[in-house]
Amino acid sequence: MKIFGGSAGRVLAVLIARKVGLNASEAEIKRFPDGEKYLRVDDDVTGQDVVIVQSIHHKSDDLLFEYFLLCDTIRSLGASRIIGVLPYFAYARQDSQFKPGEAVSFRTVAKLIEDVGTSELFSVDMHQHRIGRVSDVFNIPVHNLTAAPLLAEYVRSNTPLERPVVIGPDEESEQWALAAAKAIGADHDVLQKKRLTAEKVQILTTRSLAVRGRDVLLIDDIISTGDTIVSASKMLKEQGARRVIIACTHPILAQDALARIYATGAEIVVGTDTVPSPISHVSVAPLIADAMMRYLRSSPTLLEYVADDRN
Ligand code: R5P
Repeated sequence: MKIFGGSAGRVLAVLIARKVGLNASEAEIKRFPDGEKYLRVDDDVTGQDVVIVQSIHHKSDDLLFEYFLLCDTIRSLGASRIIGVLPYFAYARQDSQFKPGEAVSFRTVAKLIEDVGTSELFSVDMHQHRIGRVSDVFNIPVHNLTAAPLLAEYVRSNTPLERPVVIGPDEESEQWALAAAKAIGADHDVLQKKRLTAEKVQILTTRSLAVRGRDVLLIDDIISTGDTIVSASKMLKEQGARRVIIACTHPILAQDALARIYATGAEIVVGTDTVPSPISHVSVAPLIADAMMRYLRSSPTLLEYVADDRN
């Protein structure tokens, strides 16, 4: 087996490779003077299982295109199977037509990932709110792992928690709130959210939450502009929460999101390394390596590691 990292996957590729007792392989990636990408694979991949790690964040189009070049090249060099590891899967939020004529980008990206030769896909907390099953979008096996328990354990081991409760900022985040709460033996609940624009949300709650005097772990899949977390955090404070600790899988942290979050008084804000950032204190490498190796060895206990495998 060989493990390659794209420009946004090298660190995770090395960590995953180390975890499974291998050295990561490197492709040569550079740009022609006109800005086009050049890519060369100088390894013998004939007949091998090849893992390609690329987290599609920030420069999404550029990184996706690089994944396509890498995957297609490795396929043409005779790899027997290509396992795509896309820890942050961009475009998954555009999974429907919200207005007539809109591109359903999630489906287009899924189709292209398959067309270039991906045989299996691993991702972490892929945003699939309106999609019930990944098999509605992909024709290849997809393993959607969750980092929520790792985040909750990180928080528990870094601060004593006073009567903890885990809260998701919207109904869709219940899956992460539940997984995090289970990991630390806490209760969970969710708020309600109305999205006003791409940058603005309104957090609503029609009932009082059992947060008074308690430490709240507020957890979501993505922090982008930070508006969801900032608004939810304010609501929880108004309802009497003692402390609000913030965790997310994918710290995209657009613009001044992190400053706005710290300005709410949050002491602990933690994310994973699916997106490198100042708060990426939890690595998903062991989660991915364990799930991948169990899958490749066709272990019947895969589901223990794949908390949200909907296939
Ligand atoms: C949306 O449903 C997601 O789960 C996140 O809540 C959302 O992407 C966060 O975005 P923002 O930080 O811009 O509010």
